[in-house]
Amino acid sequence: MIYQNMKIAIIPGDGIGREVIPAALSVLDAFSLDIEKIPLDIGYGKWQRTGSAITDEDMDIIKECDCVLFGAITTPPDPGYKSVLMRLRKELDLYANIRPFAPLKNPCTKKFDFIIVRENTEGMYSGVEELHEDIACTTRIITRAGSKRIAERACSLAKDRKKQITIVHKANIMKSCSFFRDISIDVARKKSISYNEMLVDAMAYDLILHPEKYDVIVTTNLFGDILSDVAAAVAGGLGLCPSANTGDKYALFEPIHGSAPDIAGKGIANPIAAILSVKMMLEWAGRAEEAISIGKAVENVIQKGIVTPDLGGSCSTTEVSGAIAKLIFTF
Ligand code: IPM
Ligand code: MG
Repeated sequence: MIYQNMKIAIIPGDGIGREVIPAALSVLDAFSLDIEKIPLDIGYGKWQRTGSAITDEDMDIIKECDCVLFGAITTPPDPGYKSVLMRLRKELDLYANIRPFAPLKNPCTKKFDFIIVRENTEGMYSGVEELHEDIACTTRIITRAGSKRIAERACSLAKDRKKQITIVHKANIMKSCSFFRDISIDVARKKSISYNEMLVDAMAYDLILHPEKYDVIVTTNLFGDILSDVAAAVAGGLGLCPSANTGDKYALFEPIHGSAPDIAGKGIANPIAAILSVKMMLEWAGRAEEAISIGKAVENVIQKGIVTPDLGGSCSTTEVSGAIAKLIFTF
């Protein structure tokens, strides 16, 4: 499907989100597509000012959009503060967090191209928690429906790739993991996708040593969170890695990195993860040509060394996004 007149909720959020999202939008604007952008002030900054990080009205506006472009939101260690991202993932039912990794600036010089398909609404992030004087408890909820739909999403991605998935779990220890594994295997068999299994600790180790062995990796929420940071290190850094939180109706695109308060306001944040999140948004919207040209332009500026300090360069956020925006017309 190709979206016409797409309506996007723009949530820069906090910290470097406020720098990388405008930079990513400058690349999107270069295409002159028919897109309506709805800017929303949501996040920790708003919480400090108003006592609320996101309102029900904000949620209503977001639900009227086709998708969301999200920067990063600071989550303070305040027990009264509820994560905005968790609310968005839950309320928009963004159950599949798709995180592609390839060596854009690869410290280990290996070629690889894999996707982590992370369950995004349950597991350790279910929000069922108890905090008492001497004991704290987080309930890990894994449902049949939740496991089935994430395994189906992984299989449908695998269908257009190598027709194989790696199911990551800790089924030697946790019953919730053997439950997840058995459902995933069942789905893979039904969809005629071949599968193998890895224990999550062994997976973290092997992803660093042999990333080239993997194609589509499917796993539960917290394992996917941790493995995607491991994968980001192998791919050249968090500043390069985008993600798509997708459901059956809505989608939210965001860099994997956080709000990075230590470098916020300095103009040196790497905009590439946000720009590649725009690329994923265009793919989702059926705009394959524009998406491909962003990918090529990004590769090209990295090759030319037009990069921010996290990648060893001396360029600013806007110098990098400006170079990418200029280049997209050459591909
Ligand atoms: C991510 C982040 C989030 C997560 C945080 C910010 C809630 O680490 O998207 O990987 O844990 O999912
Ligand atoms: Mg994370």
